[in-house]
Amino acid sequence: MTVLVIGANGRIGRQVCALAAESGVPVRAMVRHRAEEPLFEEQGIDTVQGDLEGDFHEALDGCDQVVFVAGSGPHTSADRTLLVDLHGAVRAIQLAEEAGVSRFIMLSALRASDPLAGPENLRPYLAAKYAADLILQRSTLPHVILRPGKFTDDEPTGLVSTDPDQSVGIDISRGNVALALFAILRNPDIVDREIPLVDGDRPVDAVVG
Ligand SMILES: NC(=O)c1ccc[n+]([C@@H]2O[C@H](COP(=O)([O-])OP(=O)(O)OC[C@H]3O[C@@H](n4cnc5c(N)ncnc54)[C@H](OP(=O)(O)O)[C@@H]3O)[C@@H](O)[C@H]2O)c1
Repeated sequence: MTVLVIGANGRIGRQVCALAAESGVPVRAMVRHRAEEPLFEEQGIDTVQGDLEGDFHEALDGCDQVVFVAGSGPHTSADRTLLVDLHGAVRAIQLAEEAGVSRFIMLSALRASDPLAGPENLRPYLAAKYAADLILQRSTLPHVILRPGKFTDDEPTGLVSTDPDQSVGIDISRGNVALALFAILRNPDIVDREIPLVDGDRPVDAVVG
């Protein structure tokens, strides 16, 4: 059954798509620009053009799960945060609900549930994620909310922890986040859970698989 990856061209999205394709999991990459399609097509990955700031309902046709890894990024203004990280995510949740997908996997953020405790420049982003997460939790969709710490581009170790309070820091490599998302994707029994995640010392599959 096909998995729609929203935000497929991002640094995490590309890795999730590649892991799925390598394992023979049918995946559809939603990209904003046609020019990005060859990167996926040469890996045998189906693509669909769609923008969270537009109408993307056709992207969900025939999809069984959704992985949401899109984000407006740290260098955009709060209006983009509102339109992409909040409204775009909410539309994706609504469309997935209408399409009857079996599970919605949301890439959120550690401590998104307390935006006012975050650094001032991150508060609009954390508030957007918090609101989208709440809407997902209150929807009829079976879901998983992954809450990673601060991303690095370190080599993925495949070792993580779900207990940031007991960890040295809150860093996590993007590669480890992709491995965790893929482990969740492969295990349909993981539903209605929130999973904090940082780099650690336990194999990804043992922690979230
Ligand atoms: N940085 C952190 O420490 C941290 C921690 C926790 C969670 N997160 C979340 O994780 C997300 C993914 O991280 P990443 O490193 O993979 O980010 P990234 O490389 O910036 O990828 C974000 C993706 O979202 C896509 N996107 C942006 N606006 C869109 C729109 N209107 N419609 C459709 N797609 C859109 C981008 O498309 P284009 O490729 O076309 O630009 C890009 O592919 C972040 O955006 C953030 O929400 C980040």
